[in-house]
Amino acid sequence: MPFPTDGLISTNVDLALDRLRHGGLVAIPTETVYGLAADAEQPAAIGRVYAVKGRPSDHPLILHLARLDVSDRWVADVPVSARRLGDACWPGPLTLVLPRGPRVSDGITGGRDTVGVRIPSHPLTLDLLGRLGGGLVAPSANRFGKVSPTTARHVLEDLAGRLDPERDLILDGGPCRIGVESTIVDLSVEPPQILRAGAISKDDIERLLAGPVAGATGPSRASGMLMSHYAPDCTVLLADDPIEAEALAAMHRAGGERVGVLDRNDDLVVAAQSLYSDLRAADHSELDVLVAVMPPAAGIGHALRDRLMKAAAQGPRRPNRPNRAG
Ligand code: TXA
Ligand code: MG
Repeated sequence: MPFPTDGLISTNVDLALDRLRHGGLVAIPTETVYGLAADAEQPAAIGRVYAVKGRPSDHPLILHLARLDVSDRWVADVPVSARRLGDACWPGPLTLVLPRGPRVSDGITGGRDTVGVRIPSHPLTLDLLGRLGGGLVAPSANRFGKVSPTTARHVLEDLAGRLDPERDLILDGGPCRIGVESTIVDLSVEPPQILRAGAISKDDIERLLAGPVAGATGPSRASGMLMSHYAPDCTVLLADDPIEAEALAAMHRAGGERVGVLDRNDDLVVAAQSLYSDLRAADHSELDVLVAVMPPAAGIGHALRDRLMKAAAQGPRRPNRPNRAG
């Protein structure tokens, strides 16, 4: 019997494990976003992750583990700072950049001497990792530069034509609880740097480390730090408040464009859970312009502001509906 969804979507962890062991790719649910996973010890499968995503080969992948222990040889060292953050936040939305161990190949790190590791919080994926016994490399399961997926159906929409139903799988664990990618903390530098904002805020990290952390320095320390990323097809414009948003929307409507306004700032947890669905919905309803009201710069608001600024950074796009004006 064929599956109703192109034979790709399943809730069967045994099948997912089998696919990974045979070098297939499995889209895995996590609490942040869905990842496109390969067995971290199969270079050919890792190569396919880059090919399917269309991701440049010098962008390193996050290694997902069930536990972090030097004896597993994924990392060369677990400093006290990593232990502290891991004990407080894992399983959870935190990635730590640490000196890499001998088990990590160049295909994972793009030749760097560090590796990003995280223990994700999702029962299906923790079960999968526990039974695999090794590690899973997984970038977000979207095409490079595009909107990250927070449901199995999003993954299917983005990657269906690029995944092989005979070899690969999308493991459906429901909608992601947090909705934006993990906070990345680089512990290989002093003071530590936050490379990407997420649900765990800079204040949380400083409190846990009892010391200061810095922002990222140097060009593109992480791919999520490129100027343009997380981008839908429509033009995204940013407004400081709802009044400015309405004024911007009215201006574009007057020009004959189809315009939507995004403002979920009354509840930032819901705003994060919904962000990527909202960006995708803007394209599905063929908006030309989405005007987003910027969330306050507090807590997960920092991560939302970061994603919205990157979604807007691409500048004006071609209209979604080229025939509309004609
Ligand atoms: O929440 C998440 O982190 C999701 C889920 C699937 O775990 N994963 C995710 O992966 O967002 P990806 O590939 O879309 O973003 C990973 C980011 C990239 O910006 C990459 O450059 C950075 O992590 N990164 C990975 N290893 C690194 C390293 N050794 N040094 C610096 N940055 C690193
Ligand atoms: Mg990504």
